[in-house]
Amino acid sequence: MSRLADLIAQKPEITTVAVTDGQFGDTGKGKIVDELASGWAQFVVRANGGANAGHTIWVMGRKVVLHLIPAGILHPDVVNIIGTGVAFDPRAFSAELKALAEFGVPSTPLVSHCAKLVLPQHILMDRLREAGADGTLGTTGRGIGPCYTDHVGRCGLTVNDLSNPDELARKLRANLAEKMPFLREQDPEKIKAILGQEELGSGELFTPKPDSCFLDVDAIIAQYRQFENQITVANTDEIVRTARDEGARILLEGAQGLMLDLKHGRYPYVTCSDCTVDGLARGAGLSGEDVDLPLTIFKAPYMTCVGMGSFPTEIEDEVLAEEIRKRGNEYGATTGRPRRVGWFDLPLARYAHHCCKRRKPVVSHAIFTKLDVLTGFELIKICFEYEYEGPNYNVAGRWIRTGERLQTAIPDEFVLSQCQPIYKYFPGWKTSFSSAKTRKGLPWRLEEIIDVIAHESGFMPLAASVGPERDQTAILNELCI
Ligand code: GDP
Ligand code: IMO
Ligand code: MG
Repeated sequence: MSRLADLIAQKPEITTVAVTDGQFGDTGKGKIVDELASGWAQFVVRANGGANAGHTIWVMGRKVVLHLIPAGILHPDVVNIIGTGVAFDPRAFSAELKALAEFGVPSTPLVSHCAKLVLPQHILMDRLREAGADGTLGTTGRGIGPCYTDHVGRCGLTVNDLSNPDELARKLRANLAEKMPFLREQDPEKIKAILGQEELGSGELFTPKPDSCFLDVDAIIAQYRQFENQITVANTDEIVRTARDEGARILLEGAQGLMLDLKHGRYPYVTCSDCTVDGLARGAGLSGEDVDLPLTIFKAPYMTCVGMGSFPTEIEDEVLAEEIRKRGNEYGATTGRPRRVGWFDLPLARYAHHCCKRRKPVVSHAIFTKLDVLTGFELIKICFEYEYEGPNYNVAGRWIRTGERLQTAIPDEFVLSQCQPIYKYFPGWKTSFSSAKTRKGLPWRLEEIIDVIAHESGFMPLAASVGPERDQTAILNELCI
């Protein structure tokens, strides 16, 4: 049993835990979920997002990167579930199963019959828009936005449609007809090039006919039906609810992060799913009240972001940013893009605390990761507040004035993009601590920084990740519930 699993197991009244990300994603959720599956969780449920996620786990020097499959999959006694809230791409799923089998993992997760089906036209539209003249968001190009848009627009397909060939064909044709105005206007050469990519079937889906949106419906059906026998479809909402009623230990695995959340993030530079605790619960078939313990993961004392949108504490000194990027191996696990690097942002963490705060438990527990990365740095900067440098601007009836100091981030792109971070400086630490098991194993200067972050943000530091390997996690405090 991992140390973290052991800590949670000491409170048997906790049966549902949610792992969310308080920043811009990539905080190490995969590693934490894997550790909680090492002896605590009986069910691990991915509940939001899709193959845009990249969750990395290191086990004895071997690396596994998961995109759609829950990070409990390395544990044969855990039931892994891809829930209703997920945008499910059968092709990405099949590729991931193959990679896992090569790694020696034969298990396969259950997939919700109501998970939203990612179609080739979603990936095509996502990539065409990203390459278009209207400005980009820097998406992962996995079709996530168009897939969820179809769901909300009531013209989406679900995993269940794969098992009903006639309905699949009918819905697919109707869905494509709806995309006609957009796709017919596009350059066929660009479409051909995107559909020529191996991950989309090396051109087998392309047809030169504009009237069918350059997509061969029969080829899509044939391609998607090929994957059907690899997918174990189930009514996972019911399975999870029953497990909850029977007192089973359930872990909800979040993807992305609060600042990428569709409703609470820095819109429009967000993803299209609900990344909050309540969103995870709903996406798994539960309600927010079922979650006994939310765990919010933060990178510290630096942070990262991939894609466009404001990032107030971004480090402009490219030499320094590159140094941190290299040390922390900060390259997107899904797209390989170099991650943008910045200092820890307390106004954002305070905002996350504000969003994550619940009646029960009253204390918000955080896990800080990647603490080892800045070992040896002379100086650590932490952003305590912002100075707003834009013109007077009204948010919800309140005027934000030029020169005003903000302690808590306002997730409004206009405001955030004009906020200058105000830093406090802390001396760094020199000694490494990769085998720290408790607070005592951490350098005191780092301990001080964690305590400042915790005190200022409102989160209680439960644990500290001190390296990428399973169980390289030090316990800092007892659970406070
Ligand atoms: P996720 O999307 O939140 O699961 O995070 P990612 O897997 O995309 O990115 C986190 C990266 O940091 C991965 O490469 C992990 O292996 C690595 N990682 C996680 N925790 C630690 C840590 O404490 N120290 C170091 N050095 N690496 C870590
Ligand atoms: P994990 O689960 C970091 C970002 C993209 C882009 C925006 C929208 O590994 O933390 P999308 O493809 O979702 O439409 O892109 O969201 N993004 C992530 N950034 N980690 C992720 O997942 C992300 N998933 C999406 O870079 O800015
Ligand atoms: Mg990631």
